[in-house]
Amino acid sequence: MNKKLWFVLSSMLVLVMLLSACSPAAPTAAPAAEEAAPAAEEAAPAAEEAAPAAEEAAPAAEEAALPKIGFTIYKYDDNFMSFVRRAIETNAEGKAEILMNDSQNDQAKQNEQVDTMISKGVQSLAINLVNPQGASAIIKKAEEEGLPVVFFNKEPSAEDMASYDKCWYVGTNSAESGIMQGQIIVDTWKANPDWDKNGDGVMQYVLLKGEPGHPDAEARTKYAVETVVEAGIPVEELELQTGMWDSVKGKELMDAWLAKHGDAIEYVIANNDAMALGAIASLQAEGYFTGDKFMPVVGVDAIPDALVQIKEGTLVGSVLNDAANQGKATVDLALNVALGKDPLDGTDWTLDEVKAVRVPYLGITLDNIAVAEESYK
Ligand code: BGC
Ligand code: CA
Repeated sequence: MNKKLWFVLSSMLVLVMLLSACSPAAPTAAPAAEEAAPAAEEAAPAAEEAAPAAEEAAPAAEEAALPKIGFTIYKYDDNFMSFVRRAIETNAEGKAEILMNDSQNDQAKQNEQVDTMISKGVQSLAINLVNPQGASAIIKKAEEEGLPVVFFNKEPSAEDMASYDKCWYVGTNSAESGIMQGQIIVDTWKANPDWDKNGDGVMQYVLLKGEPGHPDAEARTKYAVETVVEAGIPVEELELQTGMWDSVKGKELMDAWLAKHGDAIEYVIANNDAMALGAIASLQAEGYFTGDKFMPVVGVDAIPDALVQIKEGTLVGSVLNDAANQGKATVDLALNVALGKDPLDGTDWTLDEVKAVRVPYLGITLDNIAVAEESYK
């Protein structure tokens, strides 16, 4: 054995001895480790796969941290409510996870939607009732769960509001819109003596009423006419029927009334703009608003389509129903109570004696139309 070979062999021996000294199990462990290696490699991509999952989980966790609020709109197919809904969605963004439901004008369906939202763990409810008398059933469901409820747009009775300490209302003072609409009628009637077409000093009017039993419809009908009478203008009601807040129904009624009364009608009063727009379409089809064939029409809401008609001179005026602020107040209150805070916490809203926030109306004519345009931007 030459020296070199001896050195190599002895070095190897030392190495083996050293290795086995350090780790007696090493020789047997080695293959196991080798087997484990590919497993570990396989595990690696799995771990990588887990990484994006964890990233995905992050925003979900953030969302889960936002309070969950259950909303219903009595029907999406309502011009004005579509603006309230938009305001709700804008104001809730980044602050609440909202469950939004179209109750399709069906109270039974809305009650089921409330059950579903409760089972999904909402922390508060914001309800635009289908039927204003439907509040008690919903209050009962909420009360069983200790859930706070904010009603909006369709005001429950004072009795229902008083039956549960954790319910509130966001809307308006309905009478105010009737008084303001009445004032527009008074001002324009006095400024245009030729609108009394038969010259009898009496205002012959037709009235398109909203949903019967809806506090806004009842109050607008009562106060618009009362304001005119109180201003010393004698009136005669030629027709009064419900157009259910709806444009198509408004047009159908106006078609029938025009066929029956023609120019004996001297003023068209509509509880909302959608019906006023329907009436205008009917009048246009009969040649009104061309030449000197004219008929005064007045609405409520001051929705963008109505503002266009005011500018064109086919709508005398409207009353701004502030969808933007009603949507905002609804979110503010529903969010606060979902978090267990005072409903008005951090807001400028105030509650009246029936726990209602009442967003003010504003009469709109060509003079101040910019205010309404700004509000519906
Ligand atoms: C609005 C109507 C709307 C109704 C729905 C009223 O305040 O003026 O346009 O159809 O609310 O409940
Ligand atoms: Ca007359």
